[in-house]
Amino acid sequence: MSSKIKFFKEAVKNIKTLGTVAPSSRFLSKRMLREINFSKADVLVELGPGNGAITKYILERLSPKATLICFEINDNFYRQLQDLKHPQLIVLKASAENIIEELKKLHIYKVNYIISSLPLTIIPDEVSDEILDRSFEILAKNGSFIQFQYSLSYFKKLKKVFKESISLEFEPLNIPPAFIYRCKKVE
Ligand SMILES: C[S@@+](CC[C@H](N)C(=O)[O-])C[C@H]1O[C@@H](n2cnc3c(N)ncnc32)[C@H](O)[C@@H]1O
Repeated sequence: MSSKIKFFKEAVKNIKTLGTVAPSSRFLSKRMLREINFSKADVLVELGPGNGAITKYILERLSPKATLICFEINDNFYRQLQDLKHPQLIVLKASAENIIEELKKLHIYKVNYIISSLPLTIIPDEVSDEILDRSFEILAKNGSFIQFQYSLSYFKKLKKVFKESISLEFEPLNIPPAFIYRCKKVE
């Protein structure tokens, strides 16, 4: 079975936690990553990697000393990601709001980039607020939180956390087309 069909089947069962029926296109995946300085990134986190549509491009670009830690709550996706068996990849079956506690267990206290495809608009407000606050807290100075969304409805919330340090891009070649928010921690 192709990975797109597998993703679709999972989406039908779990639409409230997936928020879409198709994995991200290669165009969206590459655009998400294009401003990351991989040569200087030691620790990267991916929130909501699904079946690895973006993960595989991150792994291709990682510097030899870097680590990627993925947070995924879906059992089947968690197993598919583990099957990648990449030496620089750690897959956690954990929810994104526990990012600080989970990373602490790995003795990680700062992160250079957080790449998120979490369906923030359908996650309960108190949980999504916690995810953004905790992501901000664990980011290193000049680190970035990169998020895609299918609408602009989350801009205000991201602004509350990251203030003016947000840039916006649009990727038409995805189903559905998506906005990319790049939020920098400048303090
Ligand atoms: C829109 S899909 C994105 C999948 C993939 N990254 C892509 O771009 O094709 C969102 C993913 O977030 C995961 N997810 C939802 N809530 C989560 C949470 N609180 N913590 C971690 N993962 C979560 C879902 O299981 C799903 O795999």
